[in-house]
Amino acid sequence: MQLFLDTANVDEIREAAALGVISGVTTNPSLIAREGRDFQQVVREITEIVDGPISAEVISTEAGAMVAEAEELARIHPNVVIKIPMLPEGLKAVSRLESRGIRTNVTLVFSANQALLAALAGASYVSPFVGRLDDAGHEGMEVVADTVEIFTLHGLQTKVIAASIRHPLHVVAAARAGAHVATVPYKTLMQMTRHPLTEVGLKKFMDDWARLQNR
Ligand code: G3P
Repeated sequence: MQLFLDTANVDEIREAAALGVISGVTTNPSLIAREGRDFQQVVREITEIVDGPISAEVISTEAGAMVAEAEELARIHPNVVIKIPMLPEGLKAVSRLESRGIRTNVTLVFSANQALLAALAGASYVSPFVGRLDDAGHEGMEVVADTVEIFTLHGLQTKVIAASIRHPLHVVAAARAGAHVATVPYKTLMQMTRHPLTEVGLKKFMDDWARLQNR
């Protein structure tokens, strides 16, 4: 399983990349808007920090326009993966882009059927939104588990990215469900590094060491 960082903040990406645990980055229009910076420039900077799949999302909703936007984004760097919303027009765009060698990540996926359609259209990645399903009173991780099971059973090559991850328990559940990737906010990544017993244990080691020096 791989971890991607779900952010458009290049400082967070630099910090996380230095840990050596991040294989890619996902962005979306909301994350880009939060930074208030030029979209293409942000994507370019991210490709310079992380050598892995970098998802950048189109904002058109008609297949032809999505393809045109995607082609422009794909020119930024070969690692750019185009995030396409799960719509009938999106599926058309996915099959056209993948046949031209441009990788896609189908986003706003909330059911295993949507994930199946994305895979059949040839998407490289599909992103079920776990947290938003949980927010709506569903068991979001079930969609991840069902999707992984279906793809495995039928030999579909599309990778499953557990997205809309909100806390460390989501990451454990995504890993147990067999997700190929979990894309995590920076805050969740840092929460994953911590455990109170690590802090208590380190303090004891340091205190004992200091006592030895003062003998
Ligand atoms: O990038 C897609 C997804 O991870 C968004 O997460 O927290 O806005 O539901 P969230």
